[in-house]
Amino acid sequence: MNLTAQHVLIVGGTRGIGRATAAAARAAGARVTATGRSAASLANLPDGVAGLRLDFTDPASVAALADRLDGVDHLVLSASDAVAWGPFADLGEPALRAAFDAKFWGYWRVIRALAAKLSATGSVTLVTGAAARAALPGTSGLAAVNGALEAMARVLAVELAPRRVNTVSPGLTATEAYAGLPDEARAAMFAATAARLPAGRVGAPDDIAQVILLAMANPFLTGSTLDVDGGAHLAR
Ligand SMILES: NC(=O)c1ccc[n+]([C@@H]2O[C@H](COP(=O)([O-])OP(=O)(O)OC[C@H]3O[C@@H](n4cnc5c(N)ncnc54)[C@H](OP(=O)(O)O)[C@@H]3O)[C@@H](O)[C@H]2O)c1
Repeated sequence: MNLTAQHVLIVGGTRGIGRATAAAARAAGARVTATGRSAASLANLPDGVAGLRLDFTDPASVAALADRLDGVDHLVLSASDAVAWGPFADLGEPALRAAFDAKFWGYWRVIRALAAKLSATGSVTLVTGAAARAALPGTSGLAAVNGALEAMARVLAVELAPRRVNTVSPGLTATEAYAGLPDEARAAMFAATAARLPAGRVGAPDDIAQVILLAMANPFLTGSTLDVDGGAHLAR
């Protein structure tokens, strides 16, 4: 894929899927800007990627980002913080509200602030998650947040046209998001998930990044959700 002369903005580019996407877009020739919340995390960006501070839970931070940018061809949203795991009966309202704040409202705020700066030939790619449609027990919170984004994105594909809007839906992907788990517990969770999946493995960040690049580059793709989840949306 060739993204030469394209400006790609990645929200959440300091780690995991976002960082892999920044590296892949750079390798495809794009000018890449990626965001993180701190100077320390921005020091971790791949070579040749410019960094900008953003905490998308803060409207002033989103407005400041929009002010700094002249124009963007491809906007990628790949960030979240609080995740609402757990059975429906146990998942309290504060945890679900925090999860919406840490992903849905952040994506919404950034797209609203940047829509006018997106080039007519550009795209928006929202990274959602297989939980949106896999109907796995314990994932009602994840399903709500990511399902809301997938539903909204299809409407945006019409409202923001000719700009293209797609969602990329990863399954379990080995990123720093799981760094808080003890090594043994993390390895056991990855192994158990891999054993359940038709693909027989969990995802690597670059598996997802390559599909995000496809969503940016293919001029006939809009309003679509691309599952890159090892078959999680099929397996039971
Ligand atoms: N990993 C998985 O198994 C998996 C599965 C399905 C879906 N997903 C989705 O894929 C996306 C990326 O996941 P990941 O595992 O790559 O995440 P990650 O490794 O935890 O990275 C999260 C990124 O989000 C940024 N971020 C967090 N809170 C933010 C905020 N308030 N404002 C702006 N940026 C913020 C972080 O930046 P700083 O810390 O530098 O500020 C970091 O760059 C997320 O939307 C996640 O829900 C992941």
